Amino acid sequence: MANTNSIRLLVAEDVPQVSQHVRNLLSVQSQVKLLEVFNDGSKVVEAAQQLRPDVVMVDLLLQGKVKGPQLIEKLRDSGLDIPVVVLTVPQHPLARDPNRGIDAVLTLPFSGFELANTLAHVLVDRQARATGACRVVSVFAPKGGVGKTTIAFNLAVALGQMGVATALIDGSLQYGDLRALLKVPSDVPSILDLPTDRVQESDLRDVMWRDPAGIDILLAPPRVEMAEMVTVRDVEKTLSLLRRLYEAIVIDTPTTLSEVTLALLDGSDVVLSIVTYDSTTIHNTIAVSEVFASIGYGPEKLQYLVNRADSSGGIGRDELARIIGRRPEFEVVSDGRLVVQANNEGMPFVVSSPDAAVSKDVRRVAQTIMGRTTNVPARG
Ligand SMILES: Nc1ncnc2c1ncn2[C@@H]1O[C@H](COP(=O)(O)OP(=O)(O)OP(=O)(O)O)[C@@H](O)[C@H]1O
Ligand SMILES: [Mg+2]
Repeated sequence: MANTNSIRLLVAEDVPQVSQHVRNLLSVQSQVKLLEVFNDGSKVVEAAQQLRPDVVMVDLLLQGKVKGPQLIEKLRDSGLDIPVVVLTVPQHPLARDPNRGIDAVLTLPFSGFELANTLAHVLVDRQARATGACRVVSVFAPKGGVGKTTIAFNLAVALGQMGVATALIDGSLQYGDLRALLKVPSDVPSILDLPTDRVQESDLRDVMWRDPAGIDILLAPPRVEMAEMVTVRDVEKTLSLLRRLYEAIVIDTPTTLSEVTLALLDGSDVVLSIVTYDSTTIHNTIAVSEVFASIGYGPEKLQYLVNRADSSGGIGRDELARIIGRRPEFEVVSDGRLVVQANNEGMPFVVSSPDAAVSKDVRRVAQTIMGRTTNVPARG
C-alpha cells in the first residue's frame, strides 16, 4: 500500500548500476517513493517543476550536456526550493554546503537505512531553516587565545537567559576548553558517547551536560588523542539532531581549520569570527576570509566580532574596517578583572555581573543573532 506520507524523490543518475542499486534499496520500504530516474541532467529542472518532489538526488559525476555540478547549481537557482542530496564516490569527497545547494552528501556504497535517514534529515533541516526554528552560531578565530571559548560560553548563556532553548557544543575537540572552564569531571560523557548509527533524541539528551546557568553542553572527549575519533559524519549527524531539539546552538571551535572544524562551520548559519587589535590576528583573519569566500560564505554567514574592542593598541577602528573590508558587526569590550575571575570560577559573567559593559555587549550579540533587535554597532 502506498504511504501518503512518503518522501517523493527524483533522481538524476546516468550509471545504470547505481540507479538499479537505489531502486533495489527503495523497493523494500515505503518511506520513500521514487518518482523518476533521469539519465540526462538537462530535463531535471523542468521535471522538478512539474512533479514537485520533496528531494532531488543528483550524481556529482553525472555526464552529458548538464553535468552534476551544473545541475546542482541550476536547481539551487531555480527558485524551486527543493533540497538536493548529492551522490558521490570516496575518490571525490564533497562537503555538505546548503548555501551552494548541497543539502546532504551520500557516498557510495550506502545502505537503505542511510539513504532513507539522509532524506529524512534533509527535510527536517530544511523545515527548521525555513521556519527559523534553530540558529547555529560557531565562534571561530584563526588565532589562539582571542576569547573564542569565553565568548561562546557567555553568548550561549545569554541566549538561555532570553528564554531561548540553547545548546553549546565544545568543538575544540583536542583540548576540550569547556571541560576545563567548567571543571567538569573526565567521566562526564562527550560527543564520542553518541552511538555511531541510529542516533535518537533520547541518546543525545543522555550525553548533554546540564549547566547550572540553564544551557545544555555537548562536551569534547576527555583526552587529547581521542579527538581523532570524531568524524565529519558524527558532526553532521549531531548538528542535524540538535537542530531539532534546540532553538539555538553555539559552537566553540579550535584555531585549526581541520575537516571536522570545517564541518562545524559549514553546518552553522553564522560564523562569528573573533578579531582583536593585534597584527597577527588581523593578518590571519584576512587569510582565512579568503578561504571562506572561496567556499561560498557570504557576509550573511561570516560576521566579525572585535573582542577587547577598547584595547586598540594603536590600530584605529576605521583602519580595521578598511583592512577586513567592512565594519565589524559586533564589539565586546575588555574587562580583565571580571572576565578572568569569572572564567576561573567557571561562572558566566553575563550571570555574575549582568550590568557590566562586557555583559551588555555579549547580550547585544545574542539579541541580534536571534533577530530580536537591529544590529547597531557598539559604540562611537
Ligand atoms: N573581553 C575580554 N576581556 C578580558 N579578558 C578576556 C576577554 N575575552 C577573553 N579574555 C581572556 O583571554 C584569555 C583567552 O580567552 P579564551 O580562552 O576564551 O580564548 P580562546 O580563543 O578560546 O583560546 P584558545 O585558542 O586557547 O582556545 C582568557 O584568559 C580570558 O579570560
Ligand atoms: Mg578556546
